[in-house]
Amino acid sequence: MQAVYLPMQQVAAVLAAGELGVFAALRRGPRAAATLARGLGTDLHALTRLCDQLVATGWLVRARNGYANASATQQWFTSSGAVDYTAGLRWTQHAWRLQPELAAAVRRGGPRRSLWRRMQREPGMGERFADYMLAFARHSAPEFARSIRMPRGASRLLDIGGSHGLHAIAACAAHPRLEAVVLDHAVSLRGTMANVRAAGLQGRVRTRVGDCRHADLGTGTFDVVHYFSVAHNQTAADNARMLRKCARALRPGGLLVIHDYVRGQLPEPYGSAFDLTLLVEVGTHTHTLADFRGWVADAGLSAFRHRRLAPAEMGSLMTARKPRF
Ligand SMILES: C[S@@+](CC[C@H](N)C(=O)[O-])C[C@H]1O[C@@H](n2cnc3c(N)ncnc32)[C@H](O)[C@@H]1O
Repeated sequence: MQAVYLPMQQVAAVLAAGELGVFAALRRGPRAAATLARGLGTDLHALTRLCDQLVATGWLVRARNGYANASATQQWFTSSGAVDYTAGLRWTQHAWRLQPELAAAVRRGGPRRSLWRRMQREPGMGERFADYMLAFARHSAPEFARSIRMPRGASRLLDIGGSHGLHAIAACAAHPRLEAVVLDHAVSLRGTMANVRAAGLQGRVRTRVGDCRHADLGTGTFDVVHYFSVAHNQTAADNARMLRKCARALRPGGLLVIHDYVRGQLPEPYGSAFDLTLLVEVGTHTHTLADFRGWVADAGLSAFRHRRLAPAEMGSLMTARKPRF
């Protein structure tokens, strides 16, 4: 039972710390327990129980009369690091309410209601998910920018499932002639225009609400199409159709860029855990490199390239071009 009980209580403690703001409160240095409790508005003895558990699991370290963030906590769960994954704690707090439905999802082959439909009904859920995706995107954006060679003179970008808009924003900031459309479900776009305004790119990045499977993407309209972390949310048949639509939407010489978590290329146990998350949340699964290669070829795109990102948990980038003739 220890193998079940301990992980449950440890995760609950970290999520509670995220909700209470413990890590953020310790960002500037160690705090005495009483000062920490006063600042967070909690009961002193109860907060001490929580912090003792966080010390036992390596999230906090003991300091004189109190506690301090461990160095990895300071780096990844406060604004002192390059990426603050506190939004991931908030999302996980919300998402783990779905886990008791896993057995039913295994029986049925998927959830009763997909994540996107849940988001429409549950206030705040779409925003929390988009904030978490934004943290991931902050982490991966520099690597993406280094890896993607924009077609010369590119002026139009389509970011399918672009959510928070960060990847479109980063591309437009780096390429002054570029304009972008971020296509996504309405629930995933609630904070996007605020991000665009914060980057000073209003007028160059706009949003479009829609289900990409049914949206008309036009013909020969875009120089670049992003399909970032969307394929694992679709069936194989939908991806095959989507990549054909992407190919049609590209101008000759245009570039399709796919980011995804390729089946068999994620370290275990992360790979199998991610597939279970997809099962319980959406009812889909990750796809193999051969799948991506096949969809790209069927869509008439050429020069398929695949690169595993480092660390391997970040997934893979794949690119393909629309032939000029
Ligand atoms: C894992 S998130 C990735 C967000 C963003 N592309 C990134 O890489 O940070 C997947 C996104 O795809 C969107 N999405 C999933 N299915 C979609 C569909 N059928 N049509 C439009 N957007 C979809 C979700 O709303 C969500 O914003």
